[in-house]
Amino acid sequence: MPRGLFITLEGLDGSGKTTQIKRLAAWMQKRGLDHIVTRQPGGTATGDRIRALLLDSRSAALAPMTEMALMFADRAQAIAEVIEPALAAGRIVLCDRFTDSTEAYQGGGRELGSQVVLDLHRLICGNLQPDITLLLLPSLDASLSRARNRNHRQTQQTGQDENRFEQEQDAFYSRVWQKYREIAAREPNRVILIEGNLGIDEVHEQIVEAISEHLVTAGHTS
Ligand code: TYD
Repeated sequence: MPRGLFITLEGLDGSGKTTQIKRLAAWMQKRGLDHIVTRQPGGTATGDRIRALLLDSRSAALAPMTEMALMFADRAQAIAEVIEPALAAGRIVLCDRFTDSTEAYQGGGRELGSQVVLDLHRLICGNLQPDITLLLLPSLDASLSRARNRNHRQTQQTGQDENRFEQEQDAFYSRVWQKYREIAAREPNRVILIEGNLGIDEVHEQIVEAISEHLVTAGHTS
């Protein structure tokens, strides 16, 4: 059984990742491509509990190292329970955020640096690398205003509070943004950078083009 394909989506809060992952999944569905969609943090029962701890505004005093360790605890569980079994069964895994998020947010945003993240990824995640990473980077301003409006609305509607990261200052997000660019420059073969304030359809087309090419090269489709 040939191994599946591991695709991750990355970007700032409000970059449109969630919309794009849904569109991409629908595109795959139409073509009969066997896939699953998952996200981090979360995606397993244990991971959902870790997610609640991480994103709740009340976890205000979380130390940066604790935050990073929880992200990796969540990821180790997701790899064992969801990602590896799916890849071993030859399926395509679409994952909303992976270790690039930890490098960007904890390494960049929290200023822990890249090295510790990459080291932990090797130790805890067996250095599992995505085959392809779609990095959505609209301008910092556009992402931030979208994310803050959305989360405010969600809290009002559901009472669910996942605003801890959105309360960060612009300087934090600017460091996250810079780190994402650094990752893209360091790993051009894996990371497909989709920049600028493009429309939903335009971004979808770019994604589909990149994925189609990869599927043909990887022998998943003709
Ligand atoms: P989520 O609601 O999934 O945001 P989005 O829809 O924008 O992806 O929340 C995930 C938050 O957790 C987001 O602010 C980024 C942050 N995060 C990290 O800081 N480090 C990580 O390793 C991961 C996976 C997420």
